[in-house]
Amino acid sequence: MPKQASVEIREENYKFLQRHVYSQAGIVLEEDKHYLFETRLAPIVQELGLGSINDLCALLKATREEKVSRSVAEAMTTNETYFFRDPSHFEAIRKELLPRLRAERKDTKRLRFWSAASSTGQEAYTLAMVLLEEGLGDWDIQILGADYSSRVVERARAGKYHQIEVDRGLPAPLLIKYFERSGVDWQLNEQVRRMVRFQTIDLRESMRAVGMFDLVFCRNVLIYFDADTKRKVLKEIRGVLFRGGWMLVGGTETVFGVDERFERRNVGSATVYVAR
Ligand SMILES: C[S@@+](CC[C@H](N)C(=O)[O-])C[C@H]1O[C@@H](n2cnc3c(N)ncnc32)[C@H](O)[C@@H]1O
Repeated sequence: MPKQASVEIREENYKFLQRHVYSQAGIVLEEDKHYLFETRLAPIVQELGLGSINDLCALLKATREEKVSRSVAEAMTTNETYFFRDPSHFEAIRKELLPRLRAERKDTKRLRFWSAASSTGQEAYTLAMVLLEEGLGDWDIQILGADYSSRVVERARAGKYHQIEVDRGLPAPLLIKYFERSGVDWQLNEQVRRMVRFQTIDLRESMRAVGMFDLVFCRNVLIYFDADTKRKVLKEIRGVLFRGGWMLVGGTETVFGVDERFERRNVGSATVYVAR
């Protein structure tokens, strides 16, 4: 059997895969991403006992098998994330959003947050730790973490991280306070895990069923979408934010000109989008 790396993806199959990933997850992959398909789809090719990505495409075209279709799209998601990514966002939450919510919600003590492309969960758990550090442990708090990929959602639910993952961004005192050793890994404790639940959600779907939120993280996912998908996703997010609620996007992303129902504001060195 020829080695996987030596079999080039035929151009018609490259186009087929681009269309497939776009229709499954809304992700736009440009013309020069052959290496990405090759490295990320190789394990699926191997698992299915196929000879090459071209064989995988033939299988997809012939059967449209849901499980394989989805695993191909999931494999093409980029799941890069880490604790306290963009610390200025968490500073803004601590200094500006939480004091306001504390006052506004002092009767119900109820707060709702959504990490909308949560990947392996570090974003949602970072928020949980910030809320505990701010003394909100006795409030009724729910954080929803959601992602298209069931693979990362499963990892997020487990709340278990490798040494290299906790070394990225997590301050040592928080590691000691909120994690327990689990063999060579680190397990988040029950107090933090109870605040967060994870599920698979495709951001292109209607969000009416997910509830209403005080804050939505939609960070480092809009970059993968085209303008139409972006517009639709932002409209749905606006629909589930309380008036005055915040949306945070990644450092290289902007909603300027895409949705006028958000007001852009600077809080410290962070940019936040406030639901009008
Ligand atoms: C780069 S990660 C961002 C993780 C985290 N928000 C952060 O900023 O650190 C992007 C995530 O978006 C998810 N994603 C891609 N398309 C999606 C879609 N249509 N619906 C929901 N999640 C999606 C991917 O699976 C991936 O885990």
